[in-house]
Amino acid sequence: MSVLIAGCGDLGTETGLRFARAGHRVIGWRRSPQKLPPRIEGVEADLTAELPAIPRDVDTVVITASASSREREAYRAGYVGGAEKIIGALERDEVAPRRVLYVSSTAVYGEANGGLVDETTDPAPRTWRGEIQLEAEELLARGLAATGTGFTALRLGGIYGPGRTMLIDRVASRRAVLPDEPRYTNRIHRDDAAQAIVHLTTRVPDPAPLYLGVDTEPAELGDVLRFLAQELGVPTPPTGDVPMASGGSKRCSNAALLGTGFTFAFPTYREGYRAVLSGEGARHP
Ligand SMILES: NC(=O)c1ccc[n+]([C@@H]2O[C@H](COP(=O)([O-])OP(=O)(O)OC[C@H]3O[C@@H](n4cnc5c(N)ncnc54)[C@H](OP(=O)(O)O)[C@@H]3O)[C@@H](O)[C@H]2O)c1
Repeated sequence: MSVLIAGCGDLGTETGLRFARAGHRVIGWRRSPQKLPPRIEGVEADLTAELPAIPRDVDTVVITASASSREREAYRAGYVGGAEKIIGALERDEVAPRRVLYVSSTAVYGEANGGLVDETTDPAPRTWRGEIQLEAEELLARGLAATGTGFTALRLGGIYGPGRTMLIDRVASRRAVLPDEPRYTNRIHRDDAAQAIVHLTTRVPDPAPLYLGVDTEPAELGDVLRFLAQELGVPTPPTGDVPMASGGSKRCSNAALLGTGFTFAFPTYREGYRAVLSGEGARHP
């Protein structure tokens, strides 16, 4: 089985290496393919331009591209335009993979009062970034509906992991502030996100169209910051007024993902951040 990873950066490369270790041929599309490790066949591709040929034996397509700029139009061109181009290239090359998996985001949900969110929750993005993610998901689902190719969106919470140390840096540099009211955050270690993609596309016979990709503990931001301060041996950050994050405040459930038999290497932020702090793993370029 060949796997095509479109937008093969940190998460895509980790996912590709796991597919390769399981015996699959892996092709990685990105604009700078020379950055990819030897086990991934790098192909130069720009998702906003004419796409290269898709090999006939591609059985699974995983889309993990990021936007090349934080401007709204570039963001839309990367995610929605990229999704459109991938559907066009599959039609053009008459390739019908078994499944396309799109890495989306829990930013499509609007909950801001700490409520529970799962796959049955109606999306209601608070930001244009969430709106664009939802638009890309819907475009892929519609575009693939009549083709025989299955579609799954995996809505990830905040990815952390090796080299993704925003919260750690904030605590270490004493810039962190504990919110004076509960703010729930949902996260997933990069390696669990990569393994969830491999799991859903290779081990689950008939994956659902949608899964939330978050660890088993929606956590109060204040608890995460307090934990990091303890681990780093620095004073507990002060409490204050913290503006609501663009992701709102919600408690996302991973029950559906667990129900497929998936197990987390890092079930909560505690195991995950301890691994990051001990220098385990590396961020892929
Ligand atoms: N960060 C989070 O907390 C979070 C949360 C939820 C979901 N996600 C999603 O997770 C996915 C993976 O994130 P990541 O952290 O692995 O991102 P990343 O390391 O930035 O990887 C994405 C790759 O996409 C490639 N890319 C960007 N524009 C492209 C284009 N026009 N054509 C082809 N390739 C392009 C880039 O490589 P080149 O520059 O070489 O092209 C980049 O290495 C993204 O879809 C992101 O939206 C992230």
